[in-house]
Amino acid sequence: MMGFGFHEADEGGGGRLLSCYRPPVPPLPSLDDVWPAVEHATAAVGAFDRALSGFRISGRPVPGTIGRLFARLDAVHSSGAEGATTTFTDLLEYETSLNRAPDPQDAGQVAACADAFEALQGKAFAPKAAILEIHRRLFERVPDPHVSATAGHWKRYANCTADYDSPNGMFFYTRPGSVDAALDDWERFTLDTGGPELVRQALSHWMFEHIHPVDDGNGRVGRLLVPLVLKRKSATDNACCFLGEAVHSNKDLYVDGLKRGRLTGDLAHWTRLLLSFAAQTAERNLMRLERLGEILGRWQAATAGLRSHSLVHRLVPWVLTRPAFTVRDALAGIGAGTFASMNTAIGRLAALGLIEPANAAGRERLFAAPEVIALFDSARNTVR
Ligand SMILES: Nc1ncnc2c1ncn2[C@@H]1O[C@H](COP(=O)(O)OP(=O)(O)OP(=O)(O)O)[C@@H](O)[C@H]1O
Ligand SMILES: [Mg+2]
Repeated sequence: MMGFGFHEADEGGGGRLLSCYRPPVPPLPSLDDVWPAVEHATAAVGAFDRALSGFRISGRPVPGTIGRLFARLDAVHSSGAEGATTTFTDLLEYETSLNRAPDPQDAGQVAACADAFEALQGKAFAPKAAILEIHRRLFERVPDPHVSATAGHWKRYANCTADYDSPNGMFFYTRPGSVDAALDDWERFTLDTGGPELVRQALSHWMFEHIHPVDDGNGRVGRLLVPLVLKRKSATDNACCFLGEAVHSNKDLYVDGLKRGRLTGDLAHWTRLLLSFAAQTAERNLMRLERLGEILGRWQAATAGLRSHSLVHRLVPWVLTRPAFTVRDALAGIGAGTFASMNTAIGRLAALGLIEPANAAGRERLFAAPEVIALFDSARNTVR
């Protein structure tokens, strides 16, 4: 098999010389080899992108549709692909004023992944700086002080993964001393133009994972960069080309694809795979968005008869993207009303059957919109 890229020696711990991989700037595959995948992904991502732009209430975008719902779903899956156990429902509950989850530490990291997305999605960031920004958010609150100390920093020691084709069964990513130069090449390639943008970002992701510039979180950071960069380059109107869900259900194919590209130098296979992940995820998300539109329509019809200045009308679009909440959350989120008036408005939605109490009556009552949550929580197996 043809080798691809080259190896550099690094003095790892204990005076051992490690052979670390340095990925090349990959050539774009021949369009003939990837065309059906490019067409499919472009159509699927484009359809979801347009549907998001057109998702409006009274002519205005529904705030939080991407950040509160789709980016959170992506964070759950992208983290789930790496072993996190927090479900979409767990994440929502963790982010209410109750701030609780079966594994709060795990939920905190998933929430940090989604927050990093929200912080960067509208910005003209420099990709290299964005890596550290996302990494900082992912790790700064981890209780282990050795880990939190690495937050927002490049790796200082060579990192590796088990690989039976490599000497000693370990494959070492780019050595720390070359990370800066390798990322300069990566950033240039990522921001450059020429060829279909989705293909370029598929290759950029391949390159990024082989550099592995931070100690931990390279998978999550790398996957988050794909939708963010595509939006940053105006290839999509919204940061919506998510990969997490498809990677979560096809982790072995994903890792094999990364590795096969390195071993053969043929990145057409990798490109087709990553584009199929983007397409699959976009198609499922489009279906969710369409159902969300139906729910919104029904909710608006159910509340149309209420006084026009009723808080209920402000609550409807808010609950749509915040489908688990307490009265305190609604007050803070909507920024109007008193505790009593919000409580009454929430009671109206509950009486109409649009939301329901999700815990026993008490001081801090949790409310949920089960129809919305069911669209996103695959642990409930409602979206196939
Ligand atoms: N053989 C490989 N070659 C290149 N990249 C790989 C290989 N195996 C895994 N990867 C990439 O590395 C990621 C895992 O790296 P890292 O641990 O830094 O990230 P993470 O988000 O914390 O994931 P994890 O929780 O699995 O550790 C995978 O998601 C994948 O993108
Ligand atoms: Mg990890």
